[in-house]
Amino acid sequence: MNRRKFLLMMLVTILFLALAGPHFGIATAEKPRPQPPYMDPSLPVEKRVKDLLRRMTLEEKVGQMTQINVTRLMGEDEWDRGPLNEEWMKKVLVDNRVGSILSGGGAAPVPNNPKAWAKMTNTLQRYALRHSRLKIPIIYGVDAVHGHNNVLGATIYPHNIGLANSWNPALVREINERTAKEVRATGIHWNFSPAADIARDLRWGRYYETFGEDPLLASEMVGAAVTGLQGDHLSSPNRVAASAKHFVGYSQPLSGEDRAPAELSLRTLREMFLPGFERAIQDGAETIMVNSGSVNGIPVHASKYLLTDVLRKELGFEGVVVSDWEDIIKLHTVHRIAPTYKEAIRISINAGVDMSMVPLDAEGFTKNLIELVQEKKVSEKRIDEAVGRILTLKFRLGLFENPYVDEEKAEKIIVDRADRELARRAATQSITLLKNDKHLLPLKKDLSTILVTGPGADNPIYQMGGWTIGWQGVENLEEMPPSVTVLEGIKGKVSKNTRVLYEPGVPPEDRQDDLEAVERAIRKAVNAAKKADVILVVVGELPYAEGEGDTSTAALPPAQTQLIRALKGTKKDVAVILLAGRPLMMTETIRSVPAFLMAYLPGTEGGNAVADILFGDANPSGKLASTWPKRIGQVPTFYNHPPGASYDPLFPFGYGLSYTRFSYENFQVPKTVQSNGKLRVAVTVTNTGKRAGDEIVQIYADRQYRSVLSPVRQLVAFQRVSLKPGESKRITLNIPVSRFSVIPGDILGTDKRIVEPGTYQLRVGDMTKTFTISK
Ligand code: NOJ
Repeated sequence: MNRRKFLLMMLVTILFLALAGPHFGIATAEKPRPQPPYMDPSLPVEKRVKDLLRRMTLEEKVGQMTQINVTRLMGEDEWDRGPLNEEWMKKVLVDNRVGSILSGGGAAPVPNNPKAWAKMTNTLQRYALRHSRLKIPIIYGVDAVHGHNNVLGATIYPHNIGLANSWNPALVREINERTAKEVRATGIHWNFSPAADIARDLRWGRYYETFGEDPLLASEMVGAAVTGLQGDHLSSPNRVAASAKHFVGYSQPLSGEDRAPAELSLRTLREMFLPGFERAIQDGAETIMVNSGSVNGIPVHASKYLLTDVLRKELGFEGVVVSDWEDIIKLHTVHRIAPTYKEAIRISINAGVDMSMVPLDAEGFTKNLIELVQEKKVSEKRIDEAVGRILTLKFRLGLFENPYVDEEKAEKIIVDRADRELARRAATQSITLLKNDKHLLPLKKDLSTILVTGPGADNPIYQMGGWTIGWQGVENLEEMPPSVTVLEGIKGKVSKNTRVLYEPGVPPEDRQDDLEAVERAIRKAVNAAKKADVILVVVGELPYAEGEGDTSTAALPPAQTQLIRALKGTKKDVAVILLAGRPLMMTETIRSVPAFLMAYLPGTEGGNAVADILFGDANPSGKLASTWPKRIGQVPTFYNHPPGASYDPLFPFGYGLSYTRFSYENFQVPKTVQSNGKLRVAVTVTNTGKRAGDEIVQIYADRQYRSVLSPVRQLVAFQRVSLKPGESKRITLNIPVSRFSVIPGDILGTDKRIVEPGTYQLRVGDMTKTFTISK
């Protein structure tokens, strides 16, 4: 090659590289652009947020305030579960610059496995980052409310209402730590959990998502869940942001129906419903989700008083407020306080909502909000405030540095049998023995014949409840999480010579209206019962979630009641095990049998846990975290009611039996304490029975004279304690005197809480002590 030809070729090559190089990702001689400050992880988050905010257009900011359901990015229509559809990804992530995606109600990829989840979130993140001018990652949210419950193969833990019966916040922390690790491994950074709602009305379909009816117990559990999910470093690959929900007053709608209006005095709202959120905030909850309903005539999504004055100014919350599903447009379509969607957006953003879980029509939200800012109906300052909080969360999560996950690792972390021991322990601590006449339980493992019957005995659907794989629970039998049923648990427990007979006892759910089929199934169970030494009947509710679970009867389905009655007729011993998300109104049935065990919704290890309790490998220790009424007409009923109301439950709050006995002695309470101090109380607990067991020490304040109504009895401290037979332990508890506070003043109930000086009474077991609070 001559010199001229060589030079010409060189020139062509250089030109080609300069023009096409970037296109093919080939590095050119161009100097690397200096990184903008917001990309510098060594800078404080506030600086990074400030720097990024000033570079963003209004469109980009509004996109950050928008959250879209992943199904909108999948398949053909808005509910199609996959695969991802590039046309929709472009509309949502590029045209509307959406900054957050969720898998609402479980929206899972097909096939549903950990790797597919990680792949899905990675693909979305990659697409978003490639098209984001400023390289802002998306934040992905999910409802992992009892384990990573949408992912097939993940261990499913008991639902909160059961966990509350363990009175064991450390257990709740452990479960949430495990859950966070699994969730993050699938590329998800945000868990819409824990529910900080208080159980006051069992007609409500979301009762089982709560930690019971007591504000102190629920707060301790909420705090443990938040710290378990978030840990100390949100950017760790094992942590996710928590969302305390649903702020506030969601759980006691007047009619008992989900999202129906609530009428709650501000005194009740503050004393009963706020503490869980207060605790979540103290423990650093990064986000709060808003109550979909209305309180005292104002939808919470429109309440500046609740979302700004109370939440921000009073409780000091600095994180992100996310709306619940479609709730902004509902100010227009359901609550009808806004004549247009646009007006609904104006009201809720100005009231304090930072991010809208839209969740389907991105443009409907972004376009209107952009216009509102241009028309000066929503200030830029408000937008910057909301976006600043969202970006802060993204920086804290380390998403700018580590936007992707290792798809193989997701598969390794979430595997069948991971954490089964924890799930089993959690379920055994949740299960509550409510009746055990003549010490029928625990059963001997070498009985000759046992009949296990009832629709819940060998169908795991009953033990997992809603929010499991699907929103309304497992709907497709091919997507059943690997689990142990009660029948399997029992078979694995008894001696080799024991015969375990099984009969479903009722026809399949869709045939229970067929009276002949019901009678036939019962007859078969009764025939089997005649051969058995003992009959174990596992009854329960089919899964449900949200409004689909509302009930006006809370009754056990008639075929199941009939089955128990027929089995009773054999004169054999019958123990009833209930798998349900709430106390069921089956008073006569419970009265008719010698043993009754409430297992709530114990999860995939529920069968092993029930068997552990039935055969005495675990000593029941659960205590009711919510009142069990006798009749539906008593609802709402709760132990911490004001004087003047009656309390006549079937089983009271705090109740639960054990296979051993505990005694209390030497209850010491100081004579006086200052109103800003701590009350140091001590009591000796002894296991006076023959088996090791756990007792829940519960300390209550009995109401004395106060200037306003306050609960007749109020839990002020508790502790779980393990005792060997004959063992005693001295338990000391430091009770903040603020736990005796009331909201003074007339009916408005907006005054600050104070501790009124005077005489008080404490109770543990059947011992009481009085003391004085001085100024
Ligand atoms: C609606 C529910 O009310 C809420 O609890 C949940 O977090 C969201 N949907 C997302 O699935």
